[in-house]
Amino acid sequence: MLKGKKILIGITGSIAAYKIPLLIRLLKKEDAEVRVIATPSAFEFVTPLTLSALSGNPVSIESHDKITGEWHSHIELGLWADLFLIAPVTANTLAKLRAGIADNYLLTVFLSARCKVMLAPAMDLDMYNHPSTIDNISALQKRGAILISPTHGELASGLCGEGRMEEPEAIFNIIRSYFKQGIQFSGFRVLVTAGPTYEPIDPVRFIGNHSSGLMGFELAKAFAARGAHVDLVAGPVNLKLNHPLVDIYPVTTAAEMFEKVSLLFTQSTIAVMCAAVADYTPETTSDIKLKKTANKLTLNLVETRDILMHLGKVKKNDQFLVGFALETNDARQNAIKKLHNKNLDLIVLNTLEDQGAGFKHDTNKVSLINSDESVVDFELKSKSAVAEDIVNHIAKSLSI
Ligand code: CTP
Repeated sequence: MLKGKKILIGITGSIAAYKIPLLIRLLKKEDAEVRVIATPSAFEFVTPLTLSALSGNPVSIESHDKITGEWHSHIELGLWADLFLIAPVTANTLAKLRAGIADNYLLTVFLSARCKVMLAPAMDLDMYNHPSTIDNISALQKRGAILISPTHGELASGLCGEGRMEEPEAIFNIIRSYFKQGIQFSGFRVLVTAGPTYEPIDPVRFIGNHSSGLMGFELAKAFAARGAHVDLVAGPVNLKLNHPLVDIYPVTTAAEMFEKVSLLFTQSTIAVMCAAVADYTPETTSDIKLKKTANKLTLNLVETRDILMHLGKVKKNDQFLVGFALETNDARQNAIKKLHNKNLDLIVLNTLEDQGAGFKHDTNKVSLINSDESVVDFELKSKSAVAEDIVNHIAKSLSI
């Protein structure tokens, strides 16, 4: 499972650092490539020789070697890693990570890392439960970091409570299952819609909406990252996605989206309809630009075909259908109504009442409602973190 995976471990100054050599051994036994960096105070608790002997690589605390002058590029390390685990992570480092402070080598690597970051805190129970620590962890999670929660037990201070870093075997299992996810959806064909539709009035005007398409693109990315082949049908958006497992089909109108989606759905195992499709379209489209002729203009609109409703009707038992509901009032009842009317397996509810949710934001706050009407509520998160939650939920529902 871990053969060739590049795992960067960042150690900070906590007594739990003495457990990291054990974790390195477990990772190396599975043929992972391990490199270690540390904050200066980490070496009060574990020696660089132990870490370099076990990892097979030199251990760095600085961006350059003071004697030889050799430069250790934080950018190269940040790009090298498939996963950056910071364990143990102290309250001090958590605060710096959140703030983007870069006053040691580990922190500069964090700012350059493009891979997933896991955080395994270790500290005394009052520090862990302090509002500032809680805030810092929650902000980092919202940006996509995975928290490996500390356990309850005896602490170095002699107190007993939450704050012990998770045991090396448990961290190892979390890392293994993270990489297993990379192939979790292989063999699955996932259909995702994204963005708005534009309904033309004449050659220069249209009826559209504020959807950016970001949520749908993040979903496509999240599925592809786990091995799914994704068909992404996107309305007019300003986004790019280059992934070998994602095929993008650009469309403009609701009718074009209907045509493309209904064709692709026959080969899909999962369909997530995230697009903000126009419910109405002008009855006629003028071939020439409409002139201003009177002080009133009436446009006749006709209903578009509801793509999701259609998929719900033709859906087979082995297809999993997900809809989105954007509501402004009676949100939950309306979403549940949509879930049943459109024969969905899951509906993702976001309300414009929640600050930072919905259109035009990089964040979203959703509730997932299953076909048995059970609900899972999530906090406000980045849209990429929301996509992860949705994909995790679908994986769980399908027992994969
Ligand atoms: N949807 C669709 N085709 C349409 C309209 C909507 O596939 N013509 C899908 C959206 O992609 C979304 C879900 O239906 O997954 C909910 O869309 P929404 O516009 O909120 O629902 P409506 O059924 O149009 O209800 P209303 O506008 O009354 O809220």
